[in-house]
Amino acid sequence: MGTMFSFLAKAGASSALSGLAASHILSPEMLPPPLHTLATVLAAMTGLLYYIKVWIHEYYIDWSYNDNSDLTGRTAVVTGGTVNGLGFATAEILYEQGAKVIITVRTKEKGEAAITKLKGQTSIGDDRASYVLCDFVSEASVRNCAAEIRSKASSGIDFLVLNAGISGRYVSKAGDTMLKNDPHAEAKMKNKFTALVWMINYIGPWIFAKELMPLLVKTAQRKPSDHPRVVWVSSGAHKRASIHWEDPFHPDQARAGLVSSYGQSKLGNLMHAREYQKRVRELLREESGDGKGSEKMDVKCFAITPGLVWTNFIPKFRLLYPLFWFLMRSPRMGAQVIKMACLDNDLKGGEYLSNCYVKESEGIDGCSKDEEQWQRLWELTAKHVEEKEHEKYIEIPNVEKKAN
Ligand SMILES: NC(=O)c1ccc[n+]([C@@H]2O[C@H](COP(=O)([O-])OP(=O)(O)OC[C@H]3O[C@@H](n4cnc5c(N)ncnc54)[C@H](OP(=O)(O)O)[C@@H]3O)[C@@H](O)[C@H]2O)c1
Repeated sequence: MGTMFSFLAKAGASSALSGLAASHILSPEMLPPPLHTLATVLAAMTGLLYYIKVWIHEYYIDWSYNDNSDLTGRTAVVTGGTVNGLGFATAEILYEQGAKVIITVRTKEKGEAAITKLKGQTSIGDDRASYVLCDFVSEASVRNCAAEIRSKASSGIDFLVLNAGISGRYVSKAGDTMLKNDPHAEAKMKNKFTALVWMINYIGPWIFAKELMPLLVKTAQRKPSDHPRVVWVSSGAHKRASIHWEDPFHPDQARAGLVSSYGQSKLGNLMHAREYQKRVRELLREESGDGKGSEKMDVKCFAITPGLVWTNFIPKFRLLYPLFWFLMRSPRMGAQVIKMACLDNDLKGGEYLSNCYVKESEGIDGCSKDEEQWQRLWELTAKHVEEKEHEKYIEIPNVEKKAN
């Protein structure tokens, strides 16, 4: 009730102020009375709409979360750092606060563009921002990228943000000309696409995070009071998803088509975050020698959803841009929850965050909260990676090499 009253009061005030301002600026001498009234009404409507937009975007954001602490000496690795995306916005926020950032991108052009834009933020020329090429379709590319990051960030990783991912839009890019004359092309295309989604959004990051686990543990040992963070960028799409245990590369099309493969991959991210949390703590305990680990030493893992964010992810339907502007968050606003996962000291690790709040995770059969199923998914993934299951369904692209 209080919220509704506050909304109506603020919306009314915003509308009245805009209308009054227009009425004063455009004097009746400048415009004949009917046009003056029309301009005043239009301005009042614009004020009202603008307030509703701000309310939609910000209502769930807890603005009390505004940790701007100095991150000098800390290192962040963010996957999928293309300009205008959530990864870039995250890198930008951490960079502005003093962290060294390493982003992963798929092409040199995107890497150079992101680094130029990042460095443009500071007047001092520095080497705190760099990029590494990585295509999550290719296991070799993921392992090479992890190796390059281990050497670039040999002193440790404080924030690892697993953000890179694809949506349903990719279906057209994945078109295979060989399927052109095939009567079952559509079904095959969907199958190929679902395998790509599972590989890029889930298997690739799984391999990458596993490759970097020893370095995260070392960082935690070296700096026991700074708990390194690992953040999986999941999505609200996990809520109506489940894991297709028989063959996650080809989730049951009859249930929800392509949406189910994206939702499954985002549910996989969440379950991965929680199992990774368990395993990294086990490793810390083992490494401590006495089997207990230091109470202070920790690596904290989170899965987050950024809300609906206007990034490169969103189809380029220009006619819908006014609606997008109205409904969607900016990448920097979407990245606030990632910043919270990186910096909030009150979080324990293992939480699911949405709109800067800790939320209950969901999923069709409750598997996002079921420890046995996190472990089952980890073991199934380890088996698939060992048996190179992904290579049966996915063509490995020629991965671009970075010029030195
Ligand atoms: N936008 C939303 O409303 C929304 C909502 C919920 C969750 N998310 C999640 O947020 C994350 C970031 O998405 P975004 O909205 O910022 O979209 P985006 O701007 O398209 O960013 C996605 C990033 O992932 C990279 N990527 C795609 N395929 C890749 C591959 N095969 N190998 C390596 N990198 C690859 C992209 O690189 P290229 O530029 O080369 O394609 C880009 O850097 C995704 O995981 C998405 O599921 C987004």
